[in-house]
Amino acid sequence: MGNRSSGLEEGSAGGPQERLTREAAARQIDHLRREIERHDHCYYVLDNPIIADVEYDRLLRDLRELETAHPDLIRETSPTQRVGGQPAEGFEEYRHQRPMLSLDNSYEWRELEEWAQRCEKLAGHRPFSYVAELKIDGLSLSLVYVDGELTRAVTRGDGVRGEVVTGNARTIRSIPLRLEVASGSLAREIEVRGEVFLSAEVFSEINQEREEQGLPVFANPRNAAAGTMRQLDPRIVAERRLDLFCYQLLFDGQPAFPTHSAALAWMREHGLKINPHYRLCPDLAAVTAFCQEWAVGRERLNYEIDGVVIKVDQVPIQEELGATAKSPRWAIAYKFPARQASTQLLDVHYQVGRTGAVTPVAILAPVQLAGSTVSRASLHNADEMVRLGVRKGDWVFIEKSGEIIPQVLRTIPERRDGRETTLDFPTNCPVCTAPLERPAGEVVSRCPNPGCPARLREGLLHFAARRAMRIEGLGEALVDQLITPREGVGSFVRDYADLYHLSERRTELIALERLGPKSVDNLLRQIEASKEAGLARLLFGLGIRHVGERTATILAHHFGSIDRLLIATEEELSAIYEVGEVVAASVHAWLAMPRHRELIERLRAAGVRLDQSTSGGADNGPPPERVFAGRQFVLTGTLPTLKRDEAKAFIEARGGRVTSAVSRQTHYVVAGEDAGSKLTRARELGLPILDEKSLLELGQQR
Ligand code: IVH
Repeated sequence: MGNRSSGLEEGSAGGPQERLTREAAARQIDHLRREIERHDHCYYVLDNPIIADVEYDRLLRDLRELETAHPDLIRETSPTQRVGGQPAEGFEEYRHQRPMLSLDNSYEWRELEEWAQRCEKLAGHRPFSYVAELKIDGLSLSLVYVDGELTRAVTRGDGVRGEVVTGNARTIRSIPLRLEVASGSLAREIEVRGEVFLSAEVFSEINQEREEQGLPVFANPRNAAAGTMRQLDPRIVAERRLDLFCYQLLFDGQPAFPTHSAALAWMREHGLKINPHYRLCPDLAAVTAFCQEWAVGRERLNYEIDGVVIKVDQVPIQEELGATAKSPRWAIAYKFPARQASTQLLDVHYQVGRTGAVTPVAILAPVQLAGSTVSRASLHNADEMVRLGVRKGDWVFIEKSGEIIPQVLRTIPERRDGRETTLDFPTNCPVCTAPLERPAGEVVSRCPNPGCPARLREGLLHFAARRAMRIEGLGEALVDQLITPREGVGSFVRDYADLYHLSERRTELIALERLGPKSVDNLLRQIEASKEAGLARLLFGLGIRHVGERTATILAHHFGSIDRLLIATEEELSAIYEVGEVVAASVHAWLAMPRHRELIERLRAAGVRLDQSTSGGADNGPPPERVFAGRQFVLTGTLPTLKRDEAKAFIEARGGRVTSAVSRQTHYVVAGEDAGSKLTRARELGLPILDEKSLLELGQQR
């Protein structure tokens, strides 16, 4: 990063960047690309960012500006070129160099044993082991790098021919656009195969948004990932945040290394994302132990797996085992049992979301499913209820598949006893009784009343959420109390701006049930602090349709203040990189509504920050200097004021890294009260030991 500023200064002595000589610009561009690639790798592959988002955004913006000034220096592999401009007309077909085979499935240990015996028999006395990997439930993709540059991405298709989806694959941020390989070495063509998937979190978000937009929801993350890969517009793909785990490596069409485990190691070292939970197993007992661990462990993952893939590690033995037309004999899938259960549907509740969308939720007789008790399942919308033909009292099959809340798969009409009753989707809002609206062609019914208490409740919870205005004391129970009208005086809160007048009513609040002076003061302090959250968080918190966290940040950085945003035209909005027409129209329409203008003015009057630049909260202001760049820290014990997360964030925001074990590589140990063996070890090694105060001082140095 230090280089970055010195590079810019070179040609810009008091002037704009265009004054850089072409040569200096090329050097600077190269430097920025490498920096961004490094940070993409940390963020998307290692899941361990080492700079703050604002710093990253600045690198990207600098690069974009330089490239705009020197368009001849733009390369397809530049990080600015991930999202292509125009939607594709269709996908070309492509014949795989080597067929993409599928796997034989096994459901029982006996099948696994038979397979292992065949492999071990053939191996004879040769060294032999298995690699057990998670079977990611997504869709397979082949990536081809020619001379280190990503040139082609092809879906599996029928295994022989697939579709060319390079533009879409380029938007997947964990896929490097170029590989660090010395030119002329190894192979001309490097093919990497892997599984494209969606995290459970992103999947829920997509479905929630689709539900609210009146689009049919995806049944599971795999369908969502597959549907996304077939999108013709890469901008939509980019928003869906797909990911990829690599599991196979070919150099010029041949297995790259003598063992599969060596191929995995090479991929990891070369910036390709592999799943970290694989294990080299000396025998079948170790394989079964791995399978058993993950049959339970899968619940902790934030992506779906449907089993374990077991592979013979040694490539010469793989080749002798060969393949059938469909699948290799050197690998097998052990499939977990489906996470399904049957239970009785007792009732249906209709939930009203912050946009007014009404979602039916099945209330179930509690049943054990994949390690937890389930008593609710999603029915999505009125059409889905009709499709399923559910009745109150029906027995139903439910399934957990990537969603936090399971789904009703189908009813079991054979188990009806005649006491079941039909369920009618309500015509009026179950909360405020306003007639529901359902535009022609949409599957979602909505409550149109902006003052509906249910909408206000969900809206306030979103506004206060961690990723929005971060008013942590404002939970469900309290929101309910604040929006419920009280005898003669109405409710405390009718819109977001009312939150900022609660301090005038401290005594009344303390009188509320379950609230004491301490929790009221705590809440008021958090509300006060949230005024400094800044425009990005505010825009996200306002709950404008299509404005997620990322779009909110882009808009806030682009315009810098709400006043600038308020006068932006729709064209101006949609001209912003990564803001499409749909988002632009939605933002523009939202800001044009008098009710929303009034809300903004009330927020302004209350002192809520409506810009995104000056000092203040952690997300605002100039990022701190990277005084800890290249330094490793270990935290131990309890610090007097900083929580562990906060100390870590403080160090990382300044370029340092926090590791868990003390070693000779450690530069500083930060010790608080009750520090244990790490402190002893640090003393043994003679490392500098800091207390909180000296850490903070050290971090402020310029
Ligand atoms: S290896 C020739 N490894 O499962 C071996 N496949 O049911 C090819 N899959 O088509 C596949 N995770 O899409 C392999 N760790 C993993 C996998 C994996 C998921 C998928 C892949 C394959 C399908 C077969």
